Amino acid sequence: MKNNKNLFVSFEGPEASGKSSQIKLLAKYLKKNKIPHIITREPGGTNIGEKLRKIILDKKENISPSEEILLLMSARLNHINNIILPALKKGKIVICDRFADSTFVYQGYVNNFGLSKTLDLHKKLLNNFLPTKTFLFILNSNEINRRLKLRKNKNKYDKIDKDFHNKVIRGYKKISKNNKRFYTIDATQSINSINERIIKEIIKLND
Ligand code: TMP
Repeated sequence: MKNNKNLFVSFEGPEASGKSSQIKLLAKYLKKNKIPHIITREPGGTNIGEKLRKIILDKKENISPSEEILLLMSARLNHINNIILPALKKGKIVICDRFADSTFVYQGYVNNFGLSKTLDLHKKLLNNFLPTKTFLFILNSNEINRRLKLRKNKNKYDKIDKDFHNKVIRGYKKISKNNKRFYTIDATQSINSINERIIKEIIKLND
């Protein structure tokens, strides 16, 4: 199975939704079946991107929403040009842990930069480059907080704050409504059944 379809897949969702664990399981499947792919993440994915990730997610840094957005978008452009496009060109499936939808939701919707302004910036600065398919993990804020309490290393958005998580969930629901790019997953389902559904969808997309 070769990726002739320019298959760029992102995983999105609120904190502790289990997307990173699902990416690991998908990677295991792709490796076992010798399907060319790369796993990457945002913010991050390149040297510059990982440096910017540290700054963006540092609890101590005082940074305004517009400054944060511009850092995220410059990290993203660097990631697209140096990692994502070259991998797609080589026929690899690109799996990305978070992408532009996170900026639409966290900065645009939750941090009040403005959703339409964020979508507009993405169109202008990043040529509206978006994944082919986005797996969106949804769970409620009680479950998020329960899972976060078990987490040791917390980033600045890993706080136990129900209103914040509810707003993130509302943001994701808003941007995914009537949008066929999104494949929504109930993140409280068993790890194995989520994994099976994702693999089925990837096979279908790559067929
Ligand atoms: P994660 O890698 O553990 O999912 O965490 C990354 C954090 O970065 C998460 O809390 C969401 C946040 N984030 C944004 O606020 N905007 C973005 O554009 C991206 C990619 C992530």
